Amino acid sequence: MTSSRGHNGQVPNRFSVTTPIYYVNDVPHIGHAYTTLAGDVLCRWRRLHGDDVHYLTGTDEHGLKIQRAAEAQGVAPKEWADRTAVRFEQTWSELQIRTDDFIRTTEPRHYAAVSKFLQAVYDNGYIYKGTYEGLYCVPCEAYYADDELVDDNCPIHDRPVESVVEENYFFKLSEFEDRLLEHYAAHPEAVAPDARRNEVLGFIRQGLRDFSMSRTSITWGVPLPWDPAHVTYVWFDALVNYCTAVGYGVDDERFDKWWPVDYHLVGKDILRFHAVYWPAMLMAAGLEPPRCVFAHGWLLVGGEKMSKTKLNQIFPHDLIADFGIDGYRYHFMADQRFGPDGDFSYEAMVTRYNADLANNFGNLASRVLNMAVNYCDARVPDVCENGTLRSLAESTYTDVAAAYDRLDFASACTSVWDLIRATNAYIEDRAPWALNKAGDSAATAAVIGDCLQTLRVVAVLAAPVIPNAAGELWRRLGHSDAVDGQRLPEAAAWGGLAAGNPLEKGDPLFPRLDVSD
Ligand code: ME8
Ligand code: MG
Repeated sequence: MTSSRGHNGQVPNRFSVTTPIYYVNDVPHIGHAYTTLAGDVLCRWRRLHGDDVHYLTGTDEHGLKIQRAAEAQGVAPKEWADRTAVRFEQTWSELQIRTDDFIRTTEPRHYAAVSKFLQAVYDNGYIYKGTYEGLYCVPCEAYYADDELVDDNCPIHDRPVESVVEENYFFKLSEFEDRLLEHYAAHPEAVAPDARRNEVLGFIRQGLRDFSMSRTSITWGVPLPWDPAHVTYVWFDALVNYCTAVGYGVDDERFDKWWPVDYHLVGKDILRFHAVYWPAMLMAAGLEPPRCVFAHGWLLVGGEKMSKTKLNQIFPHDLIADFGIDGYRYHFMADQRFGPDGDFSYEAMVTRYNADLANNFGNLASRVLNMAVNYCDARVPDVCENGTLRSLAESTYTDVAAAYDRLDFASACTSVWDLIRATNAYIEDRAPWALNKAGDSAATAAVIGDCLQTLRVVAVLAAPVIPNAAGELWRRLGHSDAVDGQRLPEAAAWGGLAAGNPLEKGDPLFPRLDVSD
């Protein structure tokens, strides 16, 4: 076996992240983009440490919901899925989200993996035949018990459910109560944040019911290998995508390398599927449960959930047109905490863009580079004050890293922007223009030296969130390599910017936005 040797000759740490695979009944809006962007930022951060990263996203294309969406459009489900899946791929590329794979559940590789997985669970004795009589919510693709309904409606979609009577196969979820509780006791980090963990534990402790995992009334799905008159329940099929993508059943070496997943990033709507059903399904198939399911909250618009029918959906493309790619990425990572619900507001996005990106980040970069060009012959000076800014720059990496470890993207941004604000304050305090005017070129150079060294640290630490501006700043600091090819933590060390590097001023990195129209 060959192992790729990374930095310092060490075998790189492997790090795998997934997003939900999104239903193709809808085109991507800022909610889908939120999860997918967070995963990209996290993966970029780990790649900066030299990790071998696998970032997976994709589309969920089976089930009644998709079958009906396609019927409504008068096209075959697969054709409908082909059209919509491409919209997701385009959106991720527009947002400069780097994925290692894009899985579609209609691909032959997925059919093969689902069949193997099902057969393993069946052979292990966790599937039996029975009759299902109960209630089903199509938008959720989920069964509900009477006592789970709110005013006779689905608790998530607030819409009527359908009653179903069908001969089905069932998955013995009830047999996994103890094993799941033991698993979560031994791995308290396996569901996050803590409130979500408590929700999951509470749900398991109430007692788990077996669930129906096949349908005969629809044909749009993966046939059961032992009884092809049935198709697999869409969630059972969809969750297996995480295994399919890393070689389950076809490439054991690859699968062993990547399993279990480090982070399943999901919205709170699908926590139960990921933190209860999925680990039980994996245990039933003889596989390890994921290391962490992290469930974030809702992005709301005007206090409400986005929905097609309410016409309150917001699409990434429209915001990118106004704020640029980095402006988009910064807003959702810095201003929408990853965990609780948050309300999206265009006005707040403009305000924060102008304050943090145009003023703090952009002005700092142009101020420092302008002074360096004017006072230091457009070269990095070979002196620094090595004062307060140095110690702050040195502690910033630690704070940012701790925030990323908690998937607290907003705090990671805050730490970097604290350093930016401190640098602006330092410039005011030391007034290099006055030092220059007084003819003290050594003192002027030392102050500018500190600022340039700090900008270098800022560029590296901000790169996962604002890759374009960070890359351009990196280039203006005289580098010919790429900022995202740097290696942390060394790249955040003080004094890494080489004396003599040629500097370049340039256009504003973030032009101010006018809100008046
Ligand atoms: O549930 N705020 O797909 P889905 C934040 N196919 N996140 C949001 C959001 C919002 N307003 N709206 C959507 C499915 N999301 C299944 C998943 S996985 C094996 C199968 C994000 O298209 C969030 O991540 O309904 C949520 O969990 C996901 O999109 C639901 O996407
Ligand atoms: Mg949904």
